[in-house]
Amino acid sequence: KSYETLLTEIRGSVALVTLNRPKALNALNSTLMAELADVLSLYEKDDAIGAVVLTGSEKAFAAGADIKEMQGLDFVDAYVSDFIGGWDAVSTFRKPLIAAVSGFALGGGCEVAMMCDFIIASDTAKFGQPEITLGIIPGAGGSQRLTRAVGKAKAMDLVLTGRMMDAAEAERAGLVSRIVPAERLIDEAVEAAQKIASFPRAAVMMAKEAVSRSFEVTLTEGLRFERRLFHSLFATEDQKEGMAAFVEKRKPAFRNR
Ligand code: HXC
Repeated sequence: KSYETLLTEIRGSVALVTLNRPKALNALNSTLMAELADVLSLYEKDDAIGAVVLTGSEKAFAAGADIKEMQGLDFVDAYVSDFIGGWDAVSTFRKPLIAAVSGFALGGGCEVAMMCDFIIASDTAKFGQPEITLGIIPGAGGSQRLTRAVGKAKAMDLVLTGRMMDAAEAERAGLVSRIVPAERLIDEAVEAAQKIASFPRAAVMMAKEAVSRSFEVTLTEGLRFERRLFHSLFATEDQKEGMAAFVEKRKPAFRNR
């Protein structure tokens, strides 16, 4: 399937999705976000895909929601159409989703990166929530996910001043999991995704679900949820295979059962 604003490529069990509106620094317009939701729903159903990498260009992961598209909105339009409600398709995607960020990840771009399970950044990456400079505030999780990722002090600083932080600051703050040289970015992210995709699918999806749950519930409820999922994995063939392979000093042959 081909898209107007996305490029897609399958590498082994990994799907690489590239945001592709280069003239607008990958500004996230409604076409792009609808196409992203569409492709993710296909990959969620596709047993051949174990993980997805989402990336942009070298210059920009995405410079934000499309300002030219938003400019004329009024309150009633925004509210009644649930403007950007469709973006939740990224955060509700059930397979691992890695953001590979080079260049600008601003506003909605930073928010989409934060909807992914983790962010691998090139040394050229720049993150920020500049909405305040336009007279709005983050609307797709910037005030919430950024605060959980980097804490109140840095989140307030970024959201209130609109300044950008570079890759090193973002890594120190806990927003990104690794920094790699720009030319290594895609390969590193795809290799990480490929490794994830090599593990038993149910365990991988439950691991994602369990960590994600920690942002939603109390510690007691989160621990209870984790324990239930943990116990349930002993019902899988791949648990038997993984542990037998370890004991027999051989490589496991997982079958996603
Ligand atoms: C629409 C955008 C855009 C955006 C860049 N462009 N960002 N178009 N929406 N968010 C367009 C420019 O208009 C320009 O088009 C082209 O991309 C290249 O951008 P330049 O500004 O010329 O590039 P440069 O000088 O290198 O500056 C890069 C930049 C700057 C610092 C990233 O483009 C910028 O500040 N962009 C806006 C960042 C921002 O405010 N993002 C938050 C948006 S609000 P032309 O046609 O002139 O060549 C948001 C709300 C989220 O995201 C909340 C709900 C989701």
